[in-house]
Amino acid sequence: MSESILRTEGLTKAFGGLIAVNNVNFTHATGKLHAVIGPNGAGKTTFFNVVSGFFAATSGRVIFQGRDIVGLKPHQISQLGIARTLQVKSVFGGLTVHDNVWIAAQSRTKFLHPFRPATSYRETARRVDQVLDEVGMRDHARELAGNLSYGDVALLEIAIALATDPKLVLLDEPVSGMSPTETERTVAIIKDLARRVNVILIEHDMEVVFGAADVITVMTQGMILCEGSPAEIAKDPRVQEAYLGAPEDEDEAHA
Ligand SMILES: Nc1ncnc2c1ncn2[C@@H]1O[C@H](COP(=O)(O)OP(=O)(O)OP(=O)(O)O)[C@@H](O)[C@H]1O
Ligand SMILES: [Mg+2]
Repeated sequence: MSESILRTEGLTKAFGGLIAVNNVNFTHATGKLHAVIGPNGAGKTTFFNVVSGFFAATSGRVIFQGRDIVGLKPHQISQLGIARTLQVKSVFGGLTVHDNVWIAAQSRTKFLHPFRPATSYRETARRVDQVLDEVGMRDHARELAGNLSYGDVALLEIAIALATDPKLVLLDEPVSGMSPTETERTVAIIKDLARRVNVILIEHDMEVVFGAADVITVMTQGMILCEGSPAEIAKDPRVQEAYLGAPEDEDEAHA
C-alpha cells in the first residue's frame, strides 16, 4: 500500500478548555479530491491551521510525505510543499494580480536557487504565467487585486497558493460568497487542479462537495464523524443529524 501524502495521528488542538480538534486521525486519499465538511465550528479551519503550522498542535502528529511536521513553522511547512488558502480572503489589494503571484513564487524560487538570480528570475516568471493560466486569470494580470470581483479574488488566492509549487493544497471554502457562475468556473478549475496536485477542500456548498469530491470526511465537534464516497455520506443518517442538530443552522433558518 502506498503511503498517503498526509495523515494525522491523534491530532488535537485545544483553546483553553475548548477542544477544537479532538484526536483526529485523518488520512488524505492521495490522488483524490478530498472534501472536509461539517457544521459551523466543527474544527475544519483549525484542522487546516494546525496542519499548516499556523497553530501549534496541543498533541498528536502530522505526517507529510512520511515526516512528522508538527512543530515546524508555517514557512518551513510551505517550503516542504503544503500551501493553503484562507477562509477570509487576503491578497495585496494595492498590487497587481501578477505581482501578488510573483511574491509567492519568488519565495519558493529563492529557496531553491539562492545564488542564481537570473535562473531564479526566469523560473519565477514562468511559474507566474503558468499558475495564472491554470486559474484562468492571465487576462487580469495587470489589474490591481483590489479592483477584482470577489470570485476573482478567490481565484487569485488559489493562484498564490499554487505559485509555491505545492504537493498538497488546502482550500478553505474557496467558493463561499461566489455567484453561481463564479462557483461553476471555480469548481471546474479545482477539479482540473486535483488531477496534478493533492487537494483537500473545506466547503459548505453541498452541491459543490457532492459534485466534485471523490472522498468526504465529515467533522463535528472537533472529531471525525465519518468518511466515505459522496454516495455513502449522502445516505448516512449521522450526517443529517449532525447538520440538523447544529444551532447555527437554526439561527440561519430564522434569520
Ligand atoms: N484562534 C482561536 N481561539 C479560540 N478559539 C478558536 C480559535 N479558532 C477557532 N476557535 C474555536 O474552535 C472551534 C472550531 O472553529 P473552526 O474555525 O475550526 O470551525 P470551522 O469548522 O472551520 O467552522 P466554519 O464552518 O464556521 O468555518 C470553534 O468553537 C471556534 O470558536
Ligand atoms: Mg472554517
